[in-house]
Amino acid sequence: MSSPESLPQYAGVLEAYHWAFQGEFDDILAELPIEDAALVLDVPCGDGFFTRRIAARQRFGQTIGVDVSPAFLEVAHDQVSSTGRAPYLLQGDCLELPITSNSVDLIWCAHSLISLTDTVSALKEMHRVLRPGGTIAVLEHDQMHRWLLPWPANLELAVQDAERQYFVQKHGSTRKMYNGRHLHQLLSDTKFQVGERRTMTAERQQPMDKASLHFFCRHFSDLRRRIGRYIPPSRQPIFDTFTDPHSPDFLPTQADFAATAIEILQLGMK
Ligand SMILES: C[S@@+](CC[C@H](N)C(=O)[O-])C[C@H]1O[C@@H](n2cnc3c(N)ncnc32)[C@H](O)[C@@H]1O
Repeated sequence: MSSPESLPQYAGVLEAYHWAFQGEFDDILAELPIEDAALVLDVPCGDGFFTRRIAARQRFGQTIGVDVSPAFLEVAHDQVSSTGRAPYLLQGDCLELPITSNSVDLIWCAHSLISLTDTVSALKEMHRVLRPGGTIAVLEHDQMHRWLLPWPANLELAVQDAERQYFVQKHGSTRKMYNGRHLHQLLSDTKFQVGERRTMTAERQQPMDKASLHFFCRHFSDLRRRIGRYIPPSRQPIFDTFTDPHSPDFLPTQADFAATAIEILQLGMK
């Protein structure tokens, strides 16, 4: 990925996550009801990882990716233009989508509710553009249960509490920290018929492929950047022992390292 200056700090780790778990993401996308001629909206599309993969599954339809960030759209444009399919990429705000009402067959909304300032209004806007009978598929995490990692038990609570403190400092409250467990409510509040919910896991353990190891190295570096300062001083040495890549105990390189990612897919209909 080229890295325009204005990409958010999480862009690198998100990209590494996509590439490490692309097989699992393809399995999720394969379950979506994408008809050949469907109009699919990927919103917000970020760097176009999902936009490109959805477009590649269509023979006659059209995929449109919308995002507010010119920097992400620039990366998305570079990535999609190297494939045979040509989705449209549009700059736009989720609160005012540049899309006709009742026109979209499938909306894909991945890992983004946390980024939206007004989640409910954005979902209402998605409801406006979805055609009657169309499907929305929301892929999300519950921030508290996003990863099962082999932390020592007495460190795990400190890590979770530090995550919570970081979140409050960044977002002002914990409200959006638990989007994954509130998807049913969010969709029913925004007039969707709530459909099936699936919880999916993806496992990695040593020995693992290069893309996965690269992702976990980025993940722990990102974790240190975000929550290091919220780990209590008494736990700091043990936190460093397991998260510092120069430590002999760096978690991802341990022979018995195993990790599980937890993803929640919530379907809804109009
Ligand atoms: C965590 S990224 C996820 C992107 C993509 N769905 C993915 O899974 O890679 C969140 C995205 O939301 C976009 N975003 C935030 N607020 C937005 C808004 N009001 N309208 C459109 N996009 C928005 C950001 O620019 C960013 O690309």
